[in-house]
Amino acid sequence: MSENLILREAPIPGVVSLTFNRPDKLNALSTPMVRQFESEIDAIATDASVRAVILQGAGGKAFVAGADIAEYRGNRTAAFNAYQFESRRVFDKLEALPQPVIAAIAGYALGGGFEIALCCDILVCTASAQLGLPEGLLGLSPGGGGTQRLTRAVGKYMASDIMLAARRISGERAFQLGLAAEVVAEQELLEAALTRARGVLKISPLAAREMKRLIRQGADAALPTALAFEQEVLARLYGTQDGQEGIAAFLDKRKPEFKGE
Ligand code: COA
Repeated sequence: MSENLILREAPIPGVVSLTFNRPDKLNALSTPMVRQFESEIDAIATDASVRAVILQGAGGKAFVAGADIAEYRGNRTAAFNAYQFESRRVFDKLEALPQPVIAAIAGYALGGGFEIALCCDILVCTASAQLGLPEGLLGLSPGGGGTQRLTRAVGKYMASDIMLAARRISGERAFQLGLAAEVVAEQELLEAALTRARGVLKISPLAAREMKRLIRQGADAALPTALAFEQEVLARLYGTQDGQEGIAAFLDKRKPEFKGE
């Protein structure tokens, strides 16, 4: 692969950070970038040593400014549809990652960039970050889950206000709407994401994985179904080594050593 469009680092043990790395184009998601992103996600999904993931954008101006609009030129319908299919599959895989994913957002998170953030579990933003789904300005609509995930996250009226006039919201507003967990200064963004990741490292990876699934899938299920699912998960966790270790460590007044088993 010629360019390193996704930078992978391990800032602390158990945590992987992936950086969208095309700063001259505000990290717009070209096809090669989407493919590199998918490879990284596939690798992380089966790597039990990774307990939390951080996503960020290179250059400080953008998390991701959306799909690479240059690839859309020329009414090439088959290629356009193939890109939409591929990016949707990758976003779905991101959402389904077993490990919690933290989005560290500075600058623009537009179109596919916002859609990626909506597939993450915890968002940390700078106050001046700008999030939006401006596809209407291109005569298009979002295709990576934005119309649905944003609506489920903030409700139909707020989603309409953002999408129907291509309005960008600030990181501060994202915090007010309950999208962002925290707003920090730009120079503190990575540390804030790492602090969230360290928090994830404190709990059992099995519990993290199961709760992530409950939060995501339970929200789309009827309440009685979701509650039954919750009970079933808890019963399963109680029978794991991590469950027994967590209980014993509390009673022994020591730190638990979770093994993910
Ligand atoms: N696709 C392709 N290239 C993009 C891009 C995108 N989504 N977003 C930005 N770029 C490129 C610009 O074309 C420009 O490239 P150039 O220097 O070769 O001309 C470079 O990134 C810098 O962007 P520029 O527009 O000059 O920066 P700005 O600060 O004036 O504006 C934005 C920033 C984000 C407001 C503006 O770039 C924008 O509206 N981008 C498109 C956002 C969008 O519609 N996303 C959804 C796509 S479906």
